[in-house]
Amino acid sequence: MKKHNIEIPVTEARYEELSDAQRHLTDLARQYTSNSYAPYSHFHVGAAIALDNGEIVCGANQENVAYPSGTCAERSACYAAGANHPGARFERIAIAARGTDGEYTAVPCAPCGACRQALLEYETLAGHDVEVLLCGRDKVFILPSVKSLLPLAFTEF
Ligand code: THU
Repeated sequence: MKKHNIEIPVTEARYEELSDAQRHLTDLARQYTSNSYAPYSHFHVGAAIALDNGEIVCGANQENVAYPSGTCAERSACYAAGANHPGARFERIAIAARGTDGEYTAVPCAPCGACRQALLEYETLAGHDVEVLLCGRDKVFILPSVKSLLPLAFTEF
């Protein structure tokens, strides 16, 4: 038997340490938490995706009285990007969240498993790593790729 330890490289940065492009995307993800429709969880998530055609597509979680019919911010953004900019490649995604106190979460909000899988599809389509920025109140976690967030992923059958 052989034991494998899978490491996830996470860079913790302060907002001021981000590049202009990273800061811009972070700002948009934060801004879009206000477009969240979350009357059930009161947890407001925003996502912003930078595409290689220069466009930025944003999303926010949209809940539904039939809970599973709702969707997360990340999937709302990535499907909007796919629908409105077919063929454009993802370059970077930023995610931010506000909790019931209305403040950005101290702990950076990480995408759920289903969103990781959905985002991975677009990273595979892009043919290169898609940087992921998880934005907390005072710190940002930078991950080099979606696949780093989803080790041992299901990618083909
Ligand atoms: N949610 C997101 O939009 N993205 C995440 O990364 C985690 C969770 C949403 C789904 C639901 O509307 C609310 O947050 C509570 O789970």
